[in-house]
Amino acid sequence: MKVLVFGKDGQLGKAFQQVFSALTPPHPIHVEFLGRAECDLCNPEAIATTLDKFKPNIIINSSAYTAVDKAETEVDLAYAINARAPELMAAYAAEHGATFLHYSTDYVFDGEKYGFYLEDDVRSPLGVYGKSKAAGEEGIARIFANSKLGQYAILRTSWVYGDGGNFIRTILRLAKEREELKVIADQYGVPTSAQWLAQVSLGLTLNQDGSIKHFPSGIYHAVPAGETTWHGLATLAVSAAIKAGVALKVQPGLIKPIPATEYPLPAPRPANSRMSTDKLQSALGGSRSYNEAQQSPEFPQWEQMVQEYVSRLASRGEI
Ligand SMILES: NC(=O)c1ccc[n+]([C@@H]2O[C@H](COP(=O)([O-])OP(=O)(O)OC[C@H]3O[C@@H](n4cnc5c(N)ncnc54)[C@H](OP(=O)(O)O)[C@@H]3O)[C@@H](O)[C@H]2O)c1
Repeated sequence: MKVLVFGKDGQLGKAFQQVFSALTPPHPIHVEFLGRAECDLCNPEAIATTLDKFKPNIIINSSAYTAVDKAETEVDLAYAINARAPELMAAYAAEHGATFLHYSTDYVFDGEKYGFYLEDDVRSPLGVYGKSKAAGEEGIARIFANSKLGQYAILRTSWVYGDGGNFIRTILRLAKEREELKVIADQYGVPTSAQWLAQVSLGLTLNQDGSIKHFPSGIYHAVPAGETTWHGLATLAVSAAIKAGVALKVQPGLIKPIPATEYPLPAPRPANSRMSTDKLQSALGGSRSYNEAQQSPEFPQWEQMVQEYVSRLASRGEI
């Protein structure tokens, strides 16, 4: 069984490398990881040639154009990577009976809903990044709707952190430089560990013997339990770093909550990114994370995973 992972140098791509390397042998899985150097996703011919060469049974697309603010001016590039490239991968999967895993974002919503977004709520993205990801979602669904072969899952997630640049690392760097920080406190969402997302993805896709699972094709919301604001996340990350023995200039109490209007950015963000995960939890059934004994009947709380992440960064001297 052959798995092809695009985006090997991103946060999620690196998490997939770790999760696949931790699978207990023997299993029938052969995985190839590709980055920009091996296949530039702006080049449709390179995508087609790569897929024809590897002939994957499972395609995992962890690559994306993720520069939310830059996307406002790099519109064509954002659409090429976030819409056209995944559509080509979906077309291959739908034609050859392969499984396609793709990732999307809470930014396909405008954040105006009161409560939790459901998978089939109407998309209403505020910025170019969200619009390009929404176009990718629509394209993939359209391609599979016309095919009797293959299956796909689009895992919509939010506020991802892992091995790479992210909000938590930025806050911890600033917390070493400044005695006071101001952080947005009126946008709600859920921080998501890339490692956890990779494990959950395999839980949806693979049986314990490494064979492919059959699941209902469609969109799934994939975030841990709980919710917070950017301010709540910054406060917890700073507290966890201090607890892990890192010397910071700022103390948690000196992180000032501000409204988003006080920190204007080129791309508007949704105020509410809460997403219901009931559909994914029921699709996962008993197996919440592949190759890992997880007794919890629910998804883990975001706080626990952020604390573990920060203490891992601290122990590696990465803060
Ligand atoms: N990060 C978040 O907070 C967040 C939130 C919600 C949803 N998501 C979604 O979650 C998924 C994973 O995000 P992530 O945080 O892992 O993203 P990331 O760290 O920014 O990684 C994206 C990867 O895509 C690659 N890429 C971009 N353009 C490419 C091109 N033209 N050809 C080949 N590769 C290209 C990048 O390659 P280089 O390393 O060479 O630049 C990078 O390795 C994405 O679908 C994203 O939209 C992310």
